[in-house]
Amino acid sequence: MFGIDAVIHSTYSGLQKGLHAISMMIIVWLMASGYYAALITHIPEVKGAVSTFNVALATLFAPVFLFRMYVSFGKGYADVLRSRDVMRYAAFLVHNLIYITTLIVIVSGFLMMNRDIDMFGLFYIPAVITDPRLHGWFSDSHTLACYGLALLLFMHVAAVIKHHLTGRPVLKGMFF
Ligand code: HEM
Ligand code: HEM
Repeated sequence: MFGIDAVIHSTYSGLQKGLHAISMMIIVWLMASGYYAALITHIPEVKGAVSTFNVALATLFAPVFLFRMYVSFGKGYADVLRSRDVMRYAAFLVHNLIYITTLIVIVSGFLMMNRDIDMFGLFYIPAVITDPRLHGWFSDSHTLACYGLALLLFMHVAAVIKHHLTGRPVLKGMFF
């Protein structure tokens, strides 16, 4: 059984909560609209608009996510190890896999670009790589890493719902 201290096992700072909320909104949007454009709609204008907007949004988001990793990645490792609680090991593993996979998604997205990044018409960032074979390789890596991230986020949200339904108020700890 869990005591009340073990129930609320994570305390997050205001900065961590804010960064989690921003990443959550942006990543959920990029995932949902990216898959909609890639797999569902056949309208070229919609595909084009989503692509241009999402590439600029994801590029803007990249430094925010790096800052978030600097603030949170791997933190609390000693505490988790001491806890001897399998659920905490699992949560720590999934959270850090989410960080690593998101980083791979961002880097592969940036390197697969075979055109300048149009930053909302304000300025352009030139493509780093010119070799089309490498574009293909990074594009495949982006697709694969996106599947991995979708799976991890599904597990993350399922775990949050399960904890909440079984009386561990994890949502409170992260959102309020
Ligand atoms: C966390 C950040 C990101 C997420 C969640 C994300 C998600 C996705 C998804 C779901 C797709 C459609 C499926 C696929 O083809 O793989 C996609 C495609 C794509 N992504 Fe990303 N992406 C991210 C970052 C980036 C970045 C930083 C760039 C480039 C600067 C980028 C460029 C692209 C491109 C060029 C495509 C191909 C289709 C298109 O032109 O829209 N992505 N992304
Ligand atoms: C879609 C809805 C989401 C909900 C309801 C949600 C909820 C939560 C909750 C309640 C926690 C605290 C868990 C605990 O106390 O052990 C948490 C932590 C975490 N979440 Fe989410 N989350 C969502 C989306 C995301 C997304 C899209 C990401 C991708 C970056 C993410 C990454 C993380 C990470 C890495 C942690 C560990 C704490 C940290 O390092 O900030 N979550 N989430």
